[in-house]
Amino acid sequence: MSGYDSKSIHEEIERAAQGISSSQDLEEFKIKYLGRKGILAQLTASIPQLAPSERAAFGKEINSLKEKIASLVAEKQGVFAGRASDSCKLPVDVTMPGIAQPVGRIHVLTQLIEEICDIFVRMGFFVMEGPEIESEYNNFTGLNIPLEHPSREAFDTFYLQKSPQDTKRFLLRSQTSPVQVRAMKAFKPPLAVVAPGRVYRPDAVDASHSFMFHQIEGFMVDRGITFADLKGTLELFAKTVFGKDISMRFRPHFFPFTEPSAEVDISCIFCKGKGWSVCGRKGWLEILGSGMIHPQVFRNVGYDPGRYTGFAFGMGVERIAMLRYGINDIRLFFENDARFLKEF
Ligand code: DAH
Repeated sequence: MSGYDSKSIHEEIERAAQGISSSQDLEEFKIKYLGRKGILAQLTASIPQLAPSERAAFGKEINSLKEKIASLVAEKQGVFAGRASDSCKLPVDVTMPGIAQPVGRIHVLTQLIEEICDIFVRMGFFVMEGPEIESEYNNFTGLNIPLEHPSREAFDTFYLQKSPQDTKRFLLRSQTSPVQVRAMKAFKPPLAVVAPGRVYRPDAVDASHSFMFHQIEGFMVDRGITFADLKGTLELFAKTVFGKDISMRFRPHFFPFTEPSAEVDISCIFCKGKGWSVCGRKGWLEILGSGMIHPQVFRNVGYDPGRYTGFAFGMGVERIAMLRYGINDIRLFFENDARFLKEF
C-alpha cells in the first residue's frame, strides 16, 4: 500500500462533502468518487499490483471508503429533497389570475319558450306537453286534416311505419297542434293551454329551414269564447314580446282545424312599417297562425260544438327569435357554437 494514506483520503472526502451546496455539486462529487473513472475505481484497479498479503486489508479499506461516501451522498440528497418540498409550501399568490371555469347557460330557444309560456301563464293558461312520437290520428285526422291533404304526404312528414295503407301509423309530429286533441280528450272545458315542443318535417336544411324546430301551440275553450278573445290574447302576447309600439293585423287564411282562420302579422320592427327587405318591403312580418277551433275538431274529441267555442294559435319559436334578435340563419340555433350562444 505504498503511497496510500488512509487518513488524508478520508479527510479529503469529508472536506469535499462539506463543500456540496447544490444538487449539481452532489452530482460532481458522486462522479469524482464513485464514477467509472473515479477514485474508488482507481483504488480497486490497483489491487492486483499489491502483494497478495496486503490485498485483503486494502479491500476492506476500499469498502469502508465506499460506505462513507454512500452515507455522505444520502445525507446531502435528503437535504436537497427537503429544500424542494419547502419551495412547494410557498403561500398562494392570490393576486395571480385564476383559471376561469366556463359556466353554461340556458339555450336562447329555451329562454324564449319559457318567456312566452310565462306570458300565457299570467293570463291563466297552463302548460302541457305532448309526445314527439305521435299517432297519425292526433297529428292529422283528429284535427280535421283530410286524408288527401298534402301535409300528410311522406315528403312532408316523417312516418315511423312505411305502409300508407296502415292508418294507425305513428310519426314524428309535424306540429304541436295534436296537443289540442290530447288535452281536450283528457279535460273538460273551461280549458286554456299552451303547449311548447319540438316538431319535425323532412325539409332540406338551409338558412330558413330545419328538419326539426320548435312550436308553441295555444288554445282556449269555454262557453262564449269569441274572436275578440283571440285578438286580445294575441295582442297582449305580441306587445309583451316585441314592444308596445307594434301594430297587428289578422289576415284571412285557411287551416283545416280552425274556422275562420287568420295569419297574424306585426308591423315590421326593423322598418317600423316603412318597408325594407326583411319584411319583403311590405312593412309586416308574419308571426303565427290562428283561428276559432273548427266544430269538427270539437266533435272528434267529444265536445259539443253547440255548447262550446274556442280559439287556437300556433307559432314557430325560431321564427319569433329570429325576428326579435335579428338572426338571419336558423342553423345558428343548432350548431352549438358557444360564440353565438353566449350572446343570449
Ligand atoms: N299547426 C300550424 C302549423 O304548423 C300552426 C297553427 C295554425 C296552429 C293555426 C293553430 C292554428 O292552432 O289555429 O303550421
